Amino acid sequence: MHEPDLEALVAAAVAARSSAYAPYSDFSVGAAVWATDGCIFTGCNVENVSYGLTICAERVAIGSAVAAGRQSFEALALVTDGAVAPCGACLQVLAEFCEQAIVVICHADGRIARTTTLSDLLPDRFAG
Ligand code: THU
Repeated sequence: MHEPDLEALVAAAVAARSSAYAPYSDFSVGAAVWATDGCIFTGCNVENVSYGLTICAERVAIGSAVAAGRQSFEALALVTDGAVAPCGACLQVLAEFCEQAIVVICHADGRIARTTTLSDLLPDRFAG
């Protein structure tokens, strides 16, 4: 297990945000997850003219990590204007792959607004 380098994680999420495809909402999101082996995987939101097909940045990052063989995460960084919390759907997807995770919520320039945990944001997850 590698202690998450939150500075590197946030920097990766800031960089990923610049690839966001958000012509409909004009709200760009960047995300990065820290896998337990110390690798970072990133994602951005990918919107669609059929709005409901939009994929959030966090789920793109998690999907990318899983496709690369990682199934366990220790931290997620999220970068947006206004430093908003991850949506519930993304928290549930993150919960699939970790018991505990640090969630770092950041402004667009990477300034950390707050550091919290998956359990604080999603205390009573659906577990099947
Ligand atoms: N979005 C994310 O990427 N992550 C979230 O946790 C919430 C929302 C995206 C979806 C859409 O492209 C835009 O932000 C506005 O909702």
